[in-house]
Amino acid sequence: MNTTRELPKITTHVLQEMKQKGEKIAMLTGYDYSTAKLLDEARIDVILVGDSASNVMAGHNTTLPITLDQMIYHASSVMRAVERALVVVDLPFGTYQGNSKEALYSAIRIMKESGANAIKVEGGEEILESVDRILSAGIPVIGHLGLTPQSINKFGTYVVRATGQEEAEKLKRDAKILESAGCFGVVLEKIPATLAADVTNSISIPTIGIGAGPHVDGQVLVLHDMLGINQDFSPRFLRRYHNLHDEMIKAFVSYIDDVKEVRFPNDKEKY
Ligand code: KIV
Repeated sequence: MNTTRELPKITTHVLQEMKQKGEKIAMLTGYDYSTAKLLDEARIDVILVGDSASNVMAGHNTTLPITLDQMIYHASSVMRAVERALVVVDLPFGTYQGNSKEALYSAIRIMKESGANAIKVEGGEEILESVDRILSAGIPVIGHLGLTPQSINKFGTYVVRATGQEEAEKLKRDAKILESAGCFGVVLEKIPATLAADVTNSISIPTIGIGAGPHVDGQVLVLHDMLGINQDFSPRFLRRYHNLHDEMIKAFVSYIDDVKEVRFPNDKEKY
């Protein structure tokens, strides 16, 4: 059943209206055609083609190795499936931080080659020139503050960010800077719930939290984590909606046994 066809396409303007009406925004990551089709059919508001693909799809320890070409491959696969959801794509590490011209070139490649709706970048004031240049080309941008995984080598750890006053003040300033620049939203990752609530109340654009408590305008989780495919990652903020790890292992073991015992294929399954 495909129920998405008659529903209006989610745009950045719809997200803005959702914030104004107090309607929460549901975002999940997606990296491939088949899963994106299911997410869209379930009526997810936003699919994030996250650079977490580097971890969950490619098996790297960090998000740093994924390339622009690989992000475009994932984003194109998702775009072929989606009719309703807004599709946001991460600009990968090293494609926007150094130079605003390169940032614009990277963002244009994603938009042109995948057909995605918007891009996401990590950081505040330090990447403002890149954000301004991308926005001036008519490309919607969402920021990402707090725990920014592309900076893991600076942080040294994935612990909660902005627990001290100085970092919290910088985060609030950065959120305002991104709002003034014209970003359509900000992802807030792994920060105290009170700080996330403060930021959410102080800006007019939607905040999307991951490990940022309930007082934000929406939530995002990594698909493989919320489905329970990945059992090694158990931060406090993660709610597992399924134990797909055990379900998939069970299915694989049944198939293997059936093949070994010549129970598959049976008479009805042959030509
Ligand atoms: O890459 C990603 O999946 C993300 C989310 C964790 C917000 O940036």
